[in-house]
Amino acid sequence: MSAHGAEGCAGQCTELEDEFAPSKLGTKDYWDDAYKRELQTYKDIGDVGEIWFGEESMDRVIRWMEAQNVPENAAILDIGTGNGMFLVELAKHGFSNLTGIDYSKAAVELTVNILEEEGLKNVTIQVEDFLNPSAELKGFDVCIDKGTFDAISLSPEDREEAKKLYVNSLKTVMQPEGFFIITSCNWTKEQLLQIFRPGLELVRELPTPRFQFGGVTGNSVTALVFKRNKS
Ligand SMILES: C[S@@+](CC[C@H](N)C(=O)[O-])C[C@H]1O[C@@H](n2cnc3c(N)ncnc32)[C@H](O)[C@@H]1O
Repeated sequence: MSAHGAEGCAGQCTELEDEFAPSKLGTKDYWDDAYKRELQTYKDIGDVGEIWFGEESMDRVIRWMEAQNVPENAAILDIGTGNGMFLVELAKHGFSNLTGIDYSKAAVELTVNILEEEGLKNVTIQVEDFLNPSAELKGFDVCIDKGTFDAISLSPEDREEAKKLYVNSLKTVMQPEGFFIITSCNWTKEQLLQIFRPGLELVRELPTPRFQFGGVTGNSVTALVFKRNKS
């Protein structure tokens, strides 16, 4: 297992130095290839592959959910689940109503293998493009995104359209007053607020490690909790 940097994201974030230049990280081909390789590695040596932004990025979200007494049977969606390790961690903490989606079939296959190995039979996992979700994908109390909106924002195609579609899908799949918890290395808190308001209100910024560069202090990763409006 490897973490993408100490709260970093070597591949995904270095691309950002070029002012959000479109990137292969925003393409399905890239993720299909990456997860095909990771699936093979998992089959060969049992390594689950990348933990984007490190283990701490999952712990802080789960800590917040537990502190808020989010019920264990809350319907939770992991958007762009990758290898599904967030689902595994959530299950280990007692959360029992879990769904993971990813548009990469290889990622879903990897997740299925890992869940099986972990003995987690009751997790729903399916191939879905979140920008064009199926009608059945709805009713979630908590939606989690760790690195997926970042990847979508790097799409070489119409990124503005992709961002709009993402926000629309989010509102469709979430319950009124449900939570959306996003971890991003591409967007600042202010930018995320602009993108996800109106419709969602900020509830909490989760503390992430800070770094200093050229006398300016910033965060390498931003983690925000939003709540969907009542209607
Ligand atoms: C940076 S990885 C993060 C994976 C996982 N969330 C994690 O934290 O390890 C981005 C993930 O988003 C998925 N993804 C990108 N665009 C997507 C879309 N439109 N619909 C569903 N999944 C998507 C990719 O296949 C990949 O698994």
